[in-house]
Amino acid sequence: MSKYEQTLSIIKPDAVERNLSDEIKQIFILKGFKIAEEKKLKITKNEAEKFYQVHQTKPFYNDLCNYLSSGPIVAMILEKENAIIDNRNIMGATNPKDAAEGTIRKKFGLSIDKNSVHGSDSAENAKIEIDFFFKN
Ligand code: CDP
Ligand code: MG
Repeated sequence: MSKYEQTLSIIKPDAVERNLSDEIKQIFILKGFKIAEEKKLKITKNEAEKFYQVHQTKPFYNDLCNYLSSGPIVAMILEKENAIIDNRNIMGATNPKDAAEGTIRKKFGLSIDKNSVHGSDSAENAKIEIDFFFKN
């Protein structure tokens, strides 16, 4: 077990499709994250529904699950001190239009749904999301 905090990051289909994975990974590395594990994969709609089940009552849930399962993604375990909050800050606001200068979503996000990256929002969800992708 690492002594550093871990969080789950996903490079979403819009960014993988535009060949931005290496550039996004480089941003994390330059910000002091270690990429402890990573895998490129395509998930099914069912898996996306499970991953995003906290949003199942939201109006955007169905589109969101279709989108996350629409093409290859890169799932990563990012590791550093304060990884969860630091990753959220580097990602920027959910809507790229509201994201601060210098954030990944400001730089690469196309729209509120195609916003290039996912990051766990709490220690509890980080554990659940890391297990989802990396616990066999
Ligand atoms: O990803 P983040 O934690 O910033 O936002 P969220 O509120 O947990 O929503 C999860 C994902 O749903 C977002 O990253 C968007 O891709 C999508 N979403 C959407 O399509 N339309 C919204 N009005 C809100 C979120
Ligand atoms: Mg969220």
